[in-house]
Amino acid sequence: MRSPSSEPLVLGIETSCDETGVGVVRGHELLADEVASSVDEHARFGGVVPEVASRAHLEAMVPTVHRALATAGVRLTDLDAVAVTAGPGLAGALLVGVAAAKAYSLALGVPLYGVNHLASHVAVDVLEHGPLPEPAVAMLVSGGHSSLLLVPDLTRELVPLGQTVDDAAGEAFDKVARLLGLGFPGGPVVDRLARDGDPAAIAFPRAMPGSYDVSFSGLKTAVARWVEAHEGAVPVADVCASFQEAVVDVLTAKAVRACREHGVDHLLLGGGVAANSRLRALAQERCDAAGVVLRVPRPGLCTDNGAMVAALGARLVDAGVAPSALDLPADSALDVTEVMAR
Ligand code: KG4
Ligand code: ZN
Repeated sequence: MRSPSSEPLVLGIETSCDETGVGVVRGHELLADEVASSVDEHARFGGVVPEVASRAHLEAMVPTVHRALATAGVRLTDLDAVAVTAGPGLAGALLVGVAAAKAYSLALGVPLYGVNHLASHVAVDVLEHGPLPEPAVAMLVSGGHSSLLLVPDLTRELVPLGQTVDDAAGEAFDKVARLLGLGFPGGPVVDRLARDGDPAAIAFPRAMPGSYDVSFSGLKTAVARWVEAHEGAVPVADVCASFQEAVVDVLTAKAVRACREHGVDHLLLGGGVAANSRLRALAQERCDAAGVVLRVPRPGLCTDNGAMVAALGARLVDAGVAPSALDLPADSALDVTEVMAR
């Protein structure tokens, strides 16, 4: 039993997609963040194959937990709580993490916290930049989600402001990379090639300017049509730069407008696409102009990881929130408003 004065030591497990993430956190302090990725096994399919991901989680789970504990210099019996992503995500993949977390919780006699993947993406920033001022606006952009959220209290409430009506932002990067023959995942390579391109070379469309929702499927189609029409002479760097500019222009404009319209002066970015160099730069520029403080974790904490789950778990323990039941389900469609699954 932990003494009331000490910070909770929490193990976090993340298996919602293709990364087996295990983190160890004490309060706001990151002690370990180990990730075993199955991304190479999916590359030849051009996207994540759920059954392949589930099997890879199963194989990586226990070794990754042991690596994280060794890195943190703690023993299983030192833990005060176990947190796990209960959703949203791939059902079979989530199940592996949830089953493992239940086993550790039961065996160690410590509380289990089944948490929301999206809220974890928000929570992770406290490990790098300290307590999050609330309310804040969070924009989470990855291969699976594009969400704009108002965060009045991270342990209790996330209010959805907007989301994608079709493709997620990272999905758009991956699809455009695929049609340019650049491989998977597409974000990092598009980001790199775009540095040598002209973002104003091609005027790709910006959808739904008045809403907090976003749409990327029309942009993807516009890129496909443009590439088709210029077959044999595609200026790849210019296409990458112009496509990327269209995505980050829309995302940053909406995020900053959400801050302004809700009277919020802190914007947080998270998710794999938050590793994008142009997104980070333009968000900084627009936040500076609007008097908004931008918080973006380092790229390694933006992509899926276990530390973010442990960080949210530690906040929940600290806030005295009741843990999940041991019959906690994995909920692939867990609503963004639910910080915890029960
Ligand atoms: O958060 P994440 O690791 O996993 C999901 O929850 O999806 O995000 C992966 C996504 C992929 O679509 C990948 O192409 C994109 O993030 N991504 C990037 C960059 N790095 C990763 N997109 C744009 N620029 C990047 N530098
Ligand atoms: Zn994610």
